[in-house]
Amino acid sequence: MNILVAGGAGYIGSHTCVALLEAGHTVIVADNLCNSRTKALERVKQITNNEITFYQIDVTDEVAVNTVFGNHSIDGVIHFAGFKAVGESVSQPLAYYYNNVVSTMVLSKACQKYKVNRFIFSSSATVYGENTVPFVETMKLLPTSNPYGETKAMSERILTDIAKVNSDWLVALLRYFNPVGAHESGLIGEAPTGIPNNLMPYITQVAKGKLAKLRIFGSDYPTVDGTGVRDYIHVMDLAEGHVAALDKLTKGVHIYNLGTGHGISVLQLVRAFKEANGLDLPYELTDRRPGDISECYADVTKAERELGWTAKRDLVDMCRDAWRFEKNYEG
Ligand SMILES: NC(=O)c1ccc[n+]([C@@H]2O[C@H](COP(=O)([O-])OP(=O)(O)OC[C@H]3O[C@@H](n4cnc5c(N)ncnc54)[C@H](O)[C@@H]3O)[C@@H](O)[C@H]2O)c1
Repeated sequence: MNILVAGGAGYIGSHTCVALLEAGHTVIVADNLCNSRTKALERVKQITNNEITFYQIDVTDEVAVNTVFGNHSIDGVIHFAGFKAVGESVSQPLAYYYNNVVSTMVLSKACQKYKVNRFIFSSSATVYGENTVPFVETMKLLPTSNPYGETKAMSERILTDIAKVNSDWLVALLRYFNPVGAHESGLIGEAPTGIPNNLMPYITQVAKGKLAKLRIFGSDYPTVDGTGVRDYIHVMDLAEGHVAALDKLTKGVHIYNLGTGHGISVLQLVRAFKEANGLDLPYELTDRRPGDISECYADVTKAERELGWTAKRDLVDMCRDAWRFEKNYEG
């Protein structure tokens, strides 16, 4: 299939391009590079020995998006393009609502116009809010404490409503848990600008000496050791989940959790990282961060049953691959 990957130069998008190309699909990337560089796409080509058509466009720009749809016979869209920093979404709500929701509307409008009926959307476990773990797709969504989560819930609703009046649409709303790690080549990975918001890039930057020590937010949660629990998933497993969704999708709207189904605490992750890479990692325990929940992990039986997909890589792979990328990364 010819797949338009919006946000394909980013962290999850670039890994998904690898998985798509390796599965024999053709990839067209649309990205405005607001949080990525073309180098990632060069690396994807190097890993897969394949070509990628790249458009440096903003996917909230309807004219530019229509040009791409007009130039190619697109079979499906994967929509990764969005802002993702939860804290920043609280201080810049308009930017988040605009970018994350309008991009969904513009891409789905183009799909309607050009009769493209496969749409895969990057949602997030954030939409579950403070439901009880493990999170199951059938749960009623609770309001999240931040605009980022609301943009994901809104995009899900928009796509669901559009699919109701387009009975041939095949829509997957993929709720990611905590993607970490990198392609095993070490050529692509997570390269945030500024101080990382997510735990793993923070850990790797401390290990590299770029940051002095890891600050762990909260050590009094009702968890195994008091630190927050998350469902970390290797980014290549996540990428392969998109290929499975493309292959197996049937008509209608389908929601899938993409996680491992296992909760890991911050201290467990720190320990695993130290052991996997034989490194020391200075850390300090600090206060809870507002808006963080104590535990977040998935029930993954639906993706396993319907997509035949399951995460294969373990915590050691995640820690080893994340470090391999950071070690070689030249900023
Ligand atoms: N990384 C995570 O922890 C996580 C968890 C759950 C969901 N998600 C979602 O998955 C998607 C991808 O996340 P990521 O970690 O790869 O982020 P990322 O920032 O690395 O990738 C997003 C890409 O989209 C591009 N982009 C943003 N707005 C755009 C626009 N208007 N037009 C064109 N390009 C635009 C950026 O330049 C970037 O290349 C996002 O929608 C994010 O909300 C991420």
